[in-house]
Amino acid sequence: MCWIFAYMWEKEATSFLLNWLRKLEYRWYDSAWIVEINNAWDFYLEKSVWKVWNLVNLVEKNEKDLTNYHIWIAHTRWATHGWVTLENCHPHYSLNKRFFLVHNGIIENYIELKKSLIKDWYTFYGDTDSEVLVKLIEKYFEKDLEYTIKKITKILEWAYAIAVIDRENPDVLVWAKIGSPLVLGFGQKEFFLSSDPNALNQTCNNFIPLEDGEIVIIKDNNFNIFNFNNELLADKEYHEFEEMEEERWKWDYAHYMLKEIYEIPYIFKNAIAWRINYEKDEIKSNTLAKLTQENIKKIEIIASWTSYNAGLTAATWFEELADLPTQVHMSTEFKYKKHFINQKTLYVFISQSGETADSLECLKIVKNKWGLTFWVVNVVWSSIARLTDMWLYTHSWTEIWVASTKAFIGQLTVLLLMSLALWNSRNLEYLKYKEIIWALENFDEKINEVLKRADKIKAIALRYSDYKNMFFLGRNLLYPIAMEWSLKLKEITYHHSEAYSSGELKHGPLSLIEENFPTVLLNPKTKLYDKNISTLKEVGAREWKVIWFITDWDKNKDLYTDIVEIPDTIEELTPFLLATTLDLFAYYIALNLWREIDKPRNLAKSVTVE
Ligand code: F6R
Repeated sequence: MCWIFAYMWEKEATSFLLNWLRKLEYRWYDSAWIVEINNAWDFYLEKSVWKVWNLVNLVEKNEKDLTNYHIWIAHTRWATHGWVTLENCHPHYSLNKRFFLVHNGIIENYIELKKSLIKDWYTFYGDTDSEVLVKLIEKYFEKDLEYTIKKITKILEWAYAIAVIDRENPDVLVWAKIGSPLVLGFGQKEFFLSSDPNALNQTCNNFIPLEDGEIVIIKDNNFNIFNFNNELLADKEYHEFEEMEEERWKWDYAHYMLKEIYEIPYIFKNAIAWRINYEKDEIKSNTLAKLTQENIKKIEIIASWTSYNAGLTAATWFEELADLPTQVHMSTEFKYKKHFINQKTLYVFISQSGETADSLECLKIVKNKWGLTFWVVNVVWSSIARLTDMWLYTHSWTEIWVASTKAFIGQLTVLLLMSLALWNSRNLEYLKYKEIIWALENFDEKINEVLKRADKIKAIALRYSDYKNMFFLGRNLLYPIAMEWSLKLKEITYHHSEAYSSGELKHGPLSLIEENFPTVLLNPKTKLYDKNISTLKEVGAREWKVIWFITDWDKNKDLYTDIVEIPDTIEELTPFLLATTLDLFAYYIALNLWREIDKPRNLAKSVTVE
């Protein structure tokens, strides 16, 4: 699973490509390479494993004159098939070194294809499915690349976005896609190709997102898009980048994660500011107004991990506020379940990137059965946003850090607004509705208040950074928040943690608790406050360590080993404050452990393979 960036124009672009690699390294970072090719059958290729700076060092030593080169391709890899080695690093090339290929995606039937190639005496230098692809091109080559790629797509199973060069026709670049994202961008006589539309913002004004089954041929300063049936698609719509690229520097912050946590109050305000009219207690959103016209009797939410946890939190809002039964599915599970798609259910998909392959597949299933789909998505023009019936952007800006923080808050904010709009349209309990709307005004100040307490949170986090196991307990609206921060802790500290509904502890997991197994209990002022006190007694009676996340008003402070206080607020808004507090808590533990916080091991930001 990788990121591809290709560029075609007659000017030297090495430093330009390296900058792009550095900029997008946060997404995939196992290995990187660039290849530059000129009309004289000559090419310059550099590969490195692990971080982009390794590649930069190699390229800086290059003495070759690259001024007449005209195709440049860069690639970062997140290993799915085969170890992080130079052999497995792209580009992959044919036996005769005529064809070079980069690939993002997974070819599920590659073992079978590889066996058939081996029978025909093809040899392999690495273990990747991508190498199988380029050797298939070599085996089946006929007429030209375009013809050959169309031919082999018939035997490939599942996802790919590829860019291929034929050294016998070095002025032609061919791209094709099924499943994995790919965008074609235009500058002045320049052509760009990227797996990520964000990468092109500020570089070109116009772009065309490619759809599945499309192939692009760039030749003689011109481009043509065909479908796999060889029909020319002459009327593809151009889009303009609307948003300015946000600041990608981390300034004085030690890590992007910390910077992004400090952006949370602004993200919250940004997602909500122009969508609420506080004078009229109204939600102002054409999309939500349209949504409330639909005859919805049930909601089903589909997402992966952090986005799934946002969905679980929202399920309580949808049920308790909007009175709509809600079911939440992990996208990896939904795909293989029996589906009961119907026209009275709203299918809500949640995704930061808008490219998660598992979620995208589920969306296609629902759409094929005419289900009404709604996306809560962060990345404008992402694949998922282009396919849904309705969508709302979370406006969380690009999230650089691999594990999600501010994007989660953006998702919660939009989901809360959805539940409020549905609630209001159904004329339920107006006073309660008003109370929440009022509490939302200036709520960013309460989140800021949490950030001002960072030193206290840090001091407690440091006391707990050596524990290898931890429980996170919450209940009702806060159970998914406990789940999210158990995930966050795993991602960046590599310590084990589990999350439970606090009521469930006594049904089994309590047996794991001992002196070196602290418990984090979320217990701000909610209707289940007293129930959580009972849990505290169960744990405390055994003299175990309990860190409580409570609100300032709490009178039982002497019951706990350690306390983290959050500002008082209404129950419905506690997830925002606890999420921010727990972000800091996980961050400071990871910091104390000297982890590589922004690039945790084995992970990638955007998971574009199933
Ligand atoms: C965890 C994290 C991932 C993503 C998941 C879905 O911090 O970021 O668990 O939430 O891969 O990604 P999106 O939201 O882009 O669909």
